[in-house]
Amino acid sequence: MSFLGLGSSHAVYWRTSSIQEVLIEDKSLTWRSLSGIIDLYFYSGPTIHDAISQFVTSIGTPALPPYWALGYHQSRWGYGTVGELNEVVHKFKEANIPLETIWSDIDYMENHRDFTIDRFRFPEAEFTRFLQTLHYNGHHYIPIVDTGVYAPQNGDENYPVYFDGLADDVYLKNPDGSVYIGEVWPGPSAFPDFFANSTKDWWTKALKDWYRDVQFDGIWLDKNEPTSHCMGSCGKPPTGEPTDEYLETIEGRGDVNHPPYVINNIRDEGCDLAAHYVAPNATHQDGSLEFDLHNLYGYSESKVTYESLLDIFPGKRPFVLSRSTHTGSGKYSVHWGGDNESKWSYLQFSISQAFSFGLFGIPFFGADICGFSGNAEEEMCSRWMQLGAFFPFYRNHNTVGTIHQEPYCWESVAEATRNATSIRYSLLSYYYTLLAYANLKDGLPVMRALSWVFPGDASLFGIDSQFFIGDALLITPVLEPNTDKVEALFPGIDAGEVYYDWYTMKKVSGEPRQALDAPLGHIPIHIRGGNIIPVHVPGYTTRETKENPIKLIVALDENNFAEGSLFWDDGESLDTKDSMFYKYRAEGGSLFVQSSQDEGYLAPTIDMIYVLGGPNRFKEIDFTANRDQFFMGVISLY
Ligand code: NOJ
Repeated sequence: MSFLGLGSSHAVYWRTSSIQEVLIEDKSLTWRSLSGIIDLYFYSGPTIHDAISQFVTSIGTPALPPYWALGYHQSRWGYGTVGELNEVVHKFKEANIPLETIWSDIDYMENHRDFTIDRFRFPEAEFTRFLQTLHYNGHHYIPIVDTGVYAPQNGDENYPVYFDGLADDVYLKNPDGSVYIGEVWPGPSAFPDFFANSTKDWWTKALKDWYRDVQFDGIWLDKNEPTSHCMGSCGKPPTGEPTDEYLETIEGRGDVNHPPYVINNIRDEGCDLAAHYVAPNATHQDGSLEFDLHNLYGYSESKVTYESLLDIFPGKRPFVLSRSTHTGSGKYSVHWGGDNESKWSYLQFSISQAFSFGLFGIPFFGADICGFSGNAEEEMCSRWMQLGAFFPFYRNHNTVGTIHQEPYCWESVAEATRNATSIRYSLLSYYYTLLAYANLKDGLPVMRALSWVFPGDASLFGIDSQFFIGDALLITPVLEPNTDKVEALFPGIDAGEVYYDWYTMKKVSGEPRQALDAPLGHIPIHIRGGNIIPVHVPGYTTRETKENPIKLIVALDENNFAEGSLFWDDGESLDTKDSMFYKYRAEGGSLFVQSSQDEGYLAPTIDMIYVLGGPNRFKEIDFTANRDQFFMGVISLY
């Protein structure tokens, strides 16, 4: 997939799942593929947003996540007991830092086996009570599920999930027809073939049975490249002769684990494509080789898991986080940036990662905030918690054995997080509206590069130190240590674009390039004139926030014009027929509010309007005394 162009853009999509490498050189870009066909799609643009929209709507627009998924998520590999999970939830509350969702990594499992619970560390009554209280207080819980399913090699072991799968013939096979056994956390592991028809029922049943014990709200899919820690089918190396079907499939292809051209795979040991992953010669139920389907594994698992969750929560939007993705994954899962490190360079890199996944049709993206491996350092974590607050997916996660990095661990980080999170929560409905547009209409990213919003300005090409949220908010994070200034670009300000400081609501004057004050705990945010943004008073949870009245920020442009919208529904139903799009337009001194239909989910009333710009420079119109007074129709702004 590539998006090229300056001013005028187009996109090219090579539709393939085959093993590839991409070589970026000074003046050239080379794609190499080990197999498959060349199936190219061209999207004509002419703007970058047109090209993205054409591509994403052709592959399937991203699913709309439930509203609660926009809240703050806390995770850690190492929350080893239910008591520890409980303590984390309480510490957030004590520190008055909003927490929406607490996550469990593989720690809750018994011997790292999927769909089990270690009852010593997560006793039944205590865990159930914990989950009930969590839900009662408006929070959510997401556990990890790994791809490798424990495969007992000892005949007398009782692990029904594996044996049910065996009976339903759901696992990848060796060339001789025996089950492929690799190695993941539980030891010998089998890998479900999510393309096989029988797998969905088995997977749904496993999740459903498990849900009776663990009332989760979404599922985190990990290791679904699929990863295996040993070389080939190490758990039980095949001893038999290859089946006729296998021989037919590989006819003329030679040894698929060692193809004649070796891609530059840095993890490749001894040129073996089986290193670290399920080997290319593993076969799927229909005879296809993992060689050809490897890149679709995460996609297929996400799709099946999405469908399973629909079975468990009928009519509700599933929430699936997946480490591995492919074109079209956005329809079923959201994504995080994988194992990063607690370093400034990864904090910086997360922005361009988010841009990439926006282009790929997965706008709901976030990185492990404060870094996955290594010990987080206070200043970096403070800046990262503030930057991460403006990514669609806001989750702090780190690995076992490192120091704790929950934002309450340092007072400066707690304070920075409270500041940024309160702004994020006030903007929840703005983010949700952008995601609804992506899902129902245009497929556009939520986080946008400056050059996408201003495609005519060559000086913005390659800028990944700032970003827009939609077209209305400009975020300028601090990406380096030991500074209280940050350089900001205000695209088009010399040609009539208007920007207002989020905090003071004052108009910015001056040059397109400016040094801004950014002491620790402060992240510069600007509103671009021409936009109307709905905001709420932030609550402790998304549920509380969503119930609060709407306030409109009407940021006028140089012609005293602005527009915006609000998508409104119950925040969880898959069916969006009762949802509303409210449209706001400020023109000629009046504000016009319309809704897409007369009946459906009604948004809370508007209790305040802030008018930025125009003849008064700043004006507040207050309806708090009589909230029902203004809801729809026309109102005079000055
Ligand atoms: C790898 C994942 O990328 C990481 O987020 C997780 O903590 C570990 N696996 C352990 O499950």
